[in-house]
Amino acid sequence: MKTILHLNSSIFGDGGQSSRLAEEFVARFPGARVIRRDLGREPLPHLDAERFGAFLSKPEGRTPAQQRVLDESDALVAELKAADILVLGLPMYNFGVPSQLKAYFDHVARAGVTFKYTEKGAVGLLAGRKAYVFAARGGLYQGTPRDTQTPYVRDFLGFLGIADVKFVYAEGLAISEASRTQSLAAARNALRALVQPERIAA
Ligand SMILES: Cc1cc2nc3c(=O)[nH]c(=O)nc-3n(C[C@H](O)[C@H](O)[C@H](O)COP(=O)(O)O)c2cc1C
Repeated sequence: MKTILHLNSSIFGDGGQSSRLAEEFVARFPGARVIRRDLGREPLPHLDAERFGAFLSKPEGRTPAQQRVLDESDALVAELKAADILVLGLPMYNFGVPSQLKAYFDHVARAGVTFKYTEKGAVGLLAGRKAYVFAARGGLYQGTPRDTQTPYVRDFLGFLGIADVKFVYAEGLAISEASRTQSLAAARNALRALVQPERIAA
């Protein structure tokens, strides 16, 4: 049985267009175990020096507060490690990824846990997983230098060792009703084409 980690980050919860597309994709794996995390509804705190200090703390000197931060991060990492497939709902807000998703990334990028430093540079420790990203945007950015999200998310996941990352875009959602309808239909077609029917039985 496959395990899917489904992460949404829309401030509109399940009603977000990115959330809906991600959910539709997850529904194509009826036999899978799905771990859901709604980062919009239950945001993580921003990473600060105190929280980052907890990641670096040695067990012998660790305070209860640091232990709590570590436990929270460890739980997020355990979900990632348990997953064969990562499904991300990715809204664009003010030209970038939601700050809630950034806060999540900041809590799972852990030296010695999800990546390690070697003489040849950093190596991700989560290799072998696939990721599918469902991006929703009011305007049009795909394939242009103004698309800051695609390279960032690809680089971040690649840093953790997740190199097989596919994107589906629903763009132009705020341009007109026609553009929105057409773009959502195209995104739905693209998401159906991502997984062939014979492979759906998880
Ligand atoms: C606060 C806010 C900021 C936004 N900023 C952008 C933006 O910079 N570029 C853009 O194309 N669309 C922008 N939009 C439109 C969203 O990308 C669009 O509504 C998309 O559907 C958001 O994904 P969601 O529905 O999953 O939340 C913004 C929407 C909101 C609410």
